[in-house]
Amino acid sequence: RAIGYVPKALIRTYGCQQNVSDGEKIKGMLALMGYEITENTEEADFILFNTCAVREHAEDRIFGNVGALKALKKRHPSLIIALCGCMMEQEHVAERIKNSFPFVNLLFGTHSLHRLPLLLCKVLEDEKRVFERGIDDNIIPEGLPVKRDGKYKAFVPIMYGCDNFCSYCIVPHVRGRERSRKPEDIINEVNTLIKSGCKEITLLGQNVNSYGKNLDEKINFAQLLQQINDLEGDFRIRFMTSHPKDATEELIDTIAKGEKICNHLHLPFQSGNDRILEKMNRHYDREKYLKIISYAKEKIPNISLTSDVIVGFPGETYEEFCDTLSLVKEVKFMALFTFIYSKRKGTLAEKMEDLIPYGEKSKWFTQLLEVQKEISSEICASMIGKVMSVLVEEKSNKENILNARTQGNIVVELKGDESYIGKFVNAKITGSKNWILTGEIV
Ligand code: SAH
Ligand code: SF4
Ligand code: F3S
Repeated sequence: RAIGYVPKALIRTYGCQQNVSDGEKIKGMLALMGYEITENTEEADFILFNTCAVREHAEDRIFGNVGALKALKKRHPSLIIALCGCMMEQEHVAERIKNSFPFVNLLFGTHSLHRLPLLLCKVLEDEKRVFERGIDDNIIPEGLPVKRDGKYKAFVPIMYGCDNFCSYCIVPHVRGRERSRKPEDIINEVNTLIKSGCKEITLLGQNVNSYGKNLDEKINFAQLLQQINDLEGDFRIRFMTSHPKDATEELIDTIAKGEKICNHLHLPFQSGNDRILEKMNRHYDREKYLKIISYAKEKIPNISLTSDVIVGFPGETYEEFCDTLSLVKEVKFMALFTFIYSKRKGTLAEKMEDLIPYGEKSKWFTQLLEVQKEISSEICASMIGKVMSVLVEEKSNKENILNARTQGNIVVELKGDESYIGKFVNAKITGSKNWILTGEIV
């Protein structure tokens, strides 16, 4: 390319918040290398897909999207195509890309994120394909440049990896062992964000309750949360995900008294049946789960609860699924993230007998959605008339309407102009439709 030409990079991120956060670092590194970020495939010089492996559907979609780049590469032979993220840490995936997608120039796994500039230079200089996966687990790269997607809300990872090995889950296989960032690195990052006007910090980890276990200093997640709560500034704190096996009363007490910590707890239960929970290797039972939920409800009366559920785990019977339904009815979650079980290569559950046809699981799934829809609507309707502090996030597609969010992460549509964006306002809830609230600024 000519001197003075600014190359353009297109980054597409799939999967969870951890991947979004990685994507922001990728953009930060590329910006420092002189790339401009684009959304337009036709003008891109570099295309990178940051992939997710959590379910088969996610993987299929990515293979489809990569395949679709073949024609683009034909038209733009100098285009560099790269793949990274969780999928790429699986050997069979890397092999398939190597053999069946010869137009992919660069592939690297989650452990090589910080090495992107080096790897990309290798591709540019040697004009060879570069593949790198499964390197050192213990590294926590600090100080990488970040180009954040939003100004007012930010993700801050506090730990990486997962040691839990839930039998269905690929994450520990592709993200490696648990490792916590040092509290001072986290606090510094949060402080910088607050000073730049950020209003909502979401602390990230596959199981934040394990925070601190591998650190020299003695600190647990509740204590970290408290330290962040005590920082000066006008902001609020969220976190995800908490694992029920080690969600403590200390954690709930910290949320209850921390005036900056949102009254929201995302606590995935996965199944309401003890036999299935054991097969899932979750290390808690229904009783223990319900105990921590009732403690949370007692200490934080207006708490908003959300959860993840898997329908159709291998060997699950309809009766066992009904235990999931009854738990949902009992707890009354504000929202549920529901998934039909998806077989993952290399996990323990892969070898378990799975006799229920997909069509049957789909019916159970629909039943669960219907029950939850009713509960969400009911909770939202019960908020009418209340006044609550919300963060105004953006203009809605509707004219003169703003989208805000409650502490419980519920969207509130408010009348108002753009000057409110990035500010906390008190909103009186005037109506609700399914799981969206409408309100007025008071
Ligand atoms: N670390 C988090 C969740 C990570 S994955 C936790 O432990 O809660 C997000 C959700 O995807 C999980 O909670 C689970 O509900 C779902 N999930 C993970 N693996 C799955 C699989 N193989 N099939 C279906 N759903 C799955
Ligand atoms: Fe997966 Fe379980 Fe780890 Fe969550 S805690 S990432 S579900 S293995
Ligand atoms: Fe997907 Fe990896 Fe997150 S598998 S859910 S992007 S940790």
